[in-house]
Amino acid sequence: MRRRATTVIDPDKCNGCGLCIQVCPSDTISLHDGKAVVTGEFSIGCEHCVAVCPEDAIRVGFSDPAATTLETIENREAWLPFGQGDTAELVRLFRSRRSCRKFAKDPVPEAVLRDLVRIGTMAPTGTNSQLWTFTVLPDREAVMKLGAAVGEFFDKLNSMAEKAAARLISKVFMKDALGEYYRDYYESVKTGLRQFREEGRDRLFHGAPAVILVGSAPGASCPAEDALLASQNICLAAHTMGLGTCLIGFVVEAMRHEPRIKKLLGIPADERIYAVIAVGKSLERYRRLTGRRRIEPRYFRG
Ligand SMILES: Cc1cc2nc3c(=O)[nH]c(=O)nc-3n(C[C@H](O)[C@H](O)[C@H](O)COP(=O)(O)O)c2cc1C
Ligand code: SF4
Repeated sequence: MRRRATTVIDPDKCNGCGLCIQVCPSDTISLHDGKAVVTGEFSIGCEHCVAVCPEDAIRVGFSDPAATTLETIENREAWLPFGQGDTAELVRLFRSRRSCRKFAKDPVPEAVLRDLVRIGTMAPTGTNSQLWTFTVLPDREAVMKLGAAVGEFFDKLNSMAEKAAARLISKVFMKDALGEYYRDYYESVKTGLRQFREEGRDRLFHGAPAVILVGSAPGASCPAEDALLASQNICLAAHTMGLGTCLIGFVVEAMRHEPRIKKLLGIPADERIYAVIAVGKSLERYRRLTGRRRIEPRYFRG
């Protein structure tokens, strides 16, 4: 994505050190008569120059400094130098986050949801497009409305998958997508839908009182990656803020195929949703950290 430069440098403040030029990935700035000057037409607006300038001489109009201010958490504005920060505690956080499947009814304060969205936007995006979208369902009623729409989608899908003829057609024309669904999900979805309707058991959102949908507007170079990185920020931060989270892939899948669900939530048709995060106070408590499947990295040496 080519974006016109919005970089402004205050010549009275600039000391000509050239640091901004060294870190700029777009070659937007050069040095003239001992002062940094915006000479490039384009910039990805990453603000490396803003972050590095010892004189605080640079502003980039693309970004709003207030957009990262949090309401419920202390704002620490100093850049964390390499090698500082508690890696062991960070790793403990990575390992302590667990998908929550038993949420308390307590509503999540809207200021906390706003902070989670802002924390999501602190993730990197391809070419700094920052074209994520966040749709917040702040109350259980809204979550249930989404749940009902997703339930209708899976009802339809299940009644299609039940038909051997439909599965055969899918095998020929759709790489057996319906057959795979029938084998892997049909029964559990059928049980989940029945449990929801007959017992009020919420197997989709696990009783979550709030949901954040992370998507991308058209034009992003890496929309899925952007949305998923933002989502991981949200899930990790939520844990430290006293909240459980669970990514709900079933909803992502339903929204991919059923445009009416986006319409219901007021999401424009050209946006795509990549992550649906159930959020709320967790009723689960764990005693220990667990392992992971052993993965051996492949090395290619020169
Ligand atoms: C893309 C994605 C989709 C997921 N979809 C669901 C889902 O629909 N329902 C659910 O209960 N868990 C879902 N999960 C949670 C996974 O089952 C969970 O991450 C995995 O079992 C590992 O457990 P942990 O998150 O507690 O480490 C999803 C996770 C990911 C990454
Ligand atoms: S980093 Fe700041 S002080 Fe140094 S050249 Fe760039 S604008 Fe001037």
